[in-house]
Amino acid sequence: MSGLFAMRSAALSSTRWAVLLSLLIVFLGLFPPIGAVKEHDFKKCDQSGFCKRNRAFADHATETSSWQSPYNIDKATVTFVDGQFKGTVLKTINEQGETVNLPITVSFLRSGVARVTVDEEKRQKQEIELRHDSKVRKERYNEAEQWVIVGGLALDQEAKIVYEDKKQMTIQYGPSSKFEAVIQFSPFSVDFRRDGVSQIKFNDRGLLNVEHWRPKVDKPEVEKKEGEETAVEEPKGEDESTWWDETFGSNTDSKPRGPESVALDITFTGYEHVYGIPSHAGPLSLKETRGGEGAYTDPYRLYNADVFEYILDSPMTLYGSIPFLQAHRKDSTVGVFWLNAAETWVDITKAKGSKNPLTLGIGAKTNTQTHWISESGLLDVFVFLGPTPKDVTTAYAELTGTTAMPQEFSLGYHQCRWNYVSDDDVKDVDRKMDKFKIPYDVIWLDIEYTDGKKYFTWDPNMFKDPIGMGKQLLDHGRKLVTIIDPHIKNEEGYHVVSELKSKDLAVKNKEGNIFEGWCWPGSSHWIDAFNPTAIEWWTSLFKYDKFKGTMENTWVWNDMNEPSVFNGPETTMPKDNIHHGGWEHRDVHNLNGMTFHNATATALLSRKEGEYRRPFVLTRSFFAGSQRVGAMWTGDNQASWDHLGAAVPMLLSQGIAGFPFSGADVGGFFGNPDKELQTRWYQAGAFYPFFRGHAHIDARRREPYLVGEPYTSIITAALRLRYSLLPSWYTAFYEAHRDGTPIIKPMFYTHPDEEAGFDVDDQFFVGNTGILVKPIVQENQESTDIFIPDDEVYYDYFTYAVLPTHKGKKITVSAPLDKTPVLMQGGHIFPRRDKPRRSSALMRWDDYTLVVAVSKDGKSAEGELYVDDGDSFDYEQGQYIHRKFILADGNVLTSVDAEGRDEKAIAEGSWLKEMRKVSVDRVIIVGAPSSWSGKKEVTVESEGKTWTSPIDYTPGAAGRAAFAVVRHLGAKIGADFRVSFA
Ligand code: NOJ
Repeated sequence: MSGLFAMRSAALSSTRWAVLLSLLIVFLGLFPPIGAVKEHDFKKCDQSGFCKRNRAFADHATETSSWQSPYNIDKATVTFVDGQFKGTVLKTINEQGETVNLPITVSFLRSGVARVTVDEEKRQKQEIELRHDSKVRKERYNEAEQWVIVGGLALDQEAKIVYEDKKQMTIQYGPSSKFEAVIQFSPFSVDFRRDGVSQIKFNDRGLLNVEHWRPKVDKPEVEKKEGEETAVEEPKGEDESTWWDETFGSNTDSKPRGPESVALDITFTGYEHVYGIPSHAGPLSLKETRGGEGAYTDPYRLYNADVFEYILDSPMTLYGSIPFLQAHRKDSTVGVFWLNAAETWVDITKAKGSKNPLTLGIGAKTNTQTHWISESGLLDVFVFLGPTPKDVTTAYAELTGTTAMPQEFSLGYHQCRWNYVSDDDVKDVDRKMDKFKIPYDVIWLDIEYTDGKKYFTWDPNMFKDPIGMGKQLLDHGRKLVTIIDPHIKNEEGYHVVSELKSKDLAVKNKEGNIFEGWCWPGSSHWIDAFNPTAIEWWTSLFKYDKFKGTMENTWVWNDMNEPSVFNGPETTMPKDNIHHGGWEHRDVHNLNGMTFHNATATALLSRKEGEYRRPFVLTRSFFAGSQRVGAMWTGDNQASWDHLGAAVPMLLSQGIAGFPFSGADVGGFFGNPDKELQTRWYQAGAFYPFFRGHAHIDARRREPYLVGEPYTSIITAALRLRYSLLPSWYTAFYEAHRDGTPIIKPMFYTHPDEEAGFDVDDQFFVGNTGILVKPIVQENQESTDIFIPDDEVYYDYFTYAVLPTHKGKKITVSAPLDKTPVLMQGGHIFPRRDKPRRSSALMRWDDYTLVVAVSKDGKSAEGELYVDDGDSFDYEQGQYIHRKFILADGNVLTSVDAEGRDEKAIAEGSWLKEMRKVSVDRVIIVGAPSSWSGKKEVTVESEGKTWTSPIDYTPGAAGRAAFAVVRHLGAKIGADFRVSFA
């Protein structure tokens, strides 16, 4: 490792033993033994000053029967104009009744979302003094919105005051004015109601806490008497011990602005389940965090970190965070989005037996109480009142954006490991995948391809001919992904670091000098991707003539962008580092990964004059809004059954938090999966939105062809299943792009009325296909129980068996090693491409198969197909095909434009012209009506012509549905058609 070489040169002047010891320490730091949990390297709430203080504040409030929140709105300051309530919250800060001013704005948005923002006047006006001669900004961080919010902020001009007295004001807003916000002045609280029923309450428990600015008053040193431990006077009242500086491990945070946390209790009245706030390795339905049976004892933490080896079933932070949470009960979903990029903790408790008569009336018995705590910045919360999960995700998507339309190849299979060691190695794997007829789209290069971890360079010995390698891949319709991390090696003569320094585009330390830390290359600097000039410069580095060896089928992987700093506190940057605009790292930490991801994606939009293509960039770190930029994966998991099991709830959580283009390392990153585990992981991975096999540098080679029979064939079958369903996956991505809907969907999302499904998180539906998947995640398991959320008919995907299902109950299905449990819900039509090919690019002009799973009425089904060129932005100019297929009355199947467009009016570009030649070849009808028995042909009408196509009907038998296959249908996929079975 060149990181080690750099370390070695730094240590040469030391004694030999010191050198060896330091090397050993770094080595152990880089490669901790597998199985060693590094939990202690990360803070618990009581090691994070502001978290501890706010929890103590909450305990005090809860335990004090006379507790009253010290926050009151000064009625005299209140205005309500054009959908916006403004005023000042007065925080009483001492017994003398002194107050500080906290300006509050409650904005009612046209979408029906309400937004509550609280600032602090003194900091806003920059009337505070910074310590240590710091040059950082004095305001609370107020630019998160610029990175995160892309729309939906138009105010609801119709919002109006419907009640007002000395104590409160009620504002009615939202679609058909169903929503109300009851703003109580003293103490300050807000009750958000829908149809007159309380849903979400702010400061109901009085835990609102905005740590106002105050000067540091140095306490007199108490003379230290002999034998006594403490020399400093114990603070009275508030715990000031972590206000001014805070030490964790060997790092001390200098906190030039003193304490400035914001915290608020948010109660979901009558809601038992809460979901979201990824990423955590735990169940989809979030657990309680204040102890008790089965509960965590620490809050969920959101502080993007390189956790290296994460433990399961834990509220511990991971690599990315999205502070968006949904609460759900039968037939109602609401949510909140806490827009704050600083370190954040969320406590969750559930209170049985609601005191609220309104909710008791509708049978709800549990309130979920949440307590949100952030270290700095504004208090800025968006409130969504549903009532459906889709209403909530759509409104959130309107604010933060939706999944970008992906490069089509990125839905195929990605073959990665740390590392493919040479260009010959890459070419060899590529050839072997062909030899074994295993489809894949992308091969990946991890950090070792570089010349000494200098990004934008190639190892001159091992990668002598990157273009030759790229061309072989291109010939097979394949792509290459190279890793580019944000740490830039601090080495004389490396052009990237020279430019970074000379252009002054790196993150600074607290003194305002370039920040230096350790990562893979050894001593490194970090690009400050908050700086627009840095993004411009970064863009220049990816031009084909600058990053030599790359070509149009090269794409990028951004790793370590939390950022990971090996010698930093909690393996990240010191919080008192300084970013563009003078903001402390503390304020923007959780945004950091997204800004780097964004810079890279921006760079890939155009790598040469005239080119404008969809970027593909995978990121490890993310925040709300990252969905607009690319894909994510869940980081360094392990080759173990429990990690396989943990992946699905994590991916489901990503989906409902608006960032559904997600995957987990297939096979497990650390360790060596046995053949069965590897096989099961591929079967599961074939249903992850992002499907990539990856392995640690110490793990044995495990390309699918190495596993041996029968495993290689079973894995190949799983891969082919993925490839045949690519048209359905692409359609699901399009739906996510359109309105923020998840790509794989949990039961509560698809069936919000079926209570037994609310905590089911080990199975999911794929898009709107009706395909229900339950991956096998246990060793030696030959059958599994699938939860059935409704009373539709369900067919086995492979055998067409009709399953004896009951709504709200589980059904056992067999799942021998060569089978993934996949069901088809009646009532759906989904597209496939069944011809096995080596890559998705080679399937581009293949004909389609439509699978019709007839509903329980025996007559109907519906589904969609969306397809475009999968690469450019021409779809924005109408260059796509979007069909709706409908089976009606059990005897007519039609295809119409899903958007009612007049297709003839669309000017055809070259892709659309070519696509117009592609046909529907087969239609498979599962659950075909018995009246079709004996039928030999169907009548097809399309484009003014009529013809017949052959149909084979197979009657039902022994629990298997009747099915029919229409062959050589011949209608064009882009044209209206009508197939008559009568
Ligand atoms: C950490 C990433 O999580 C892992 O996927 C990658 O292989 C290593 N960094 C090396 O780049």
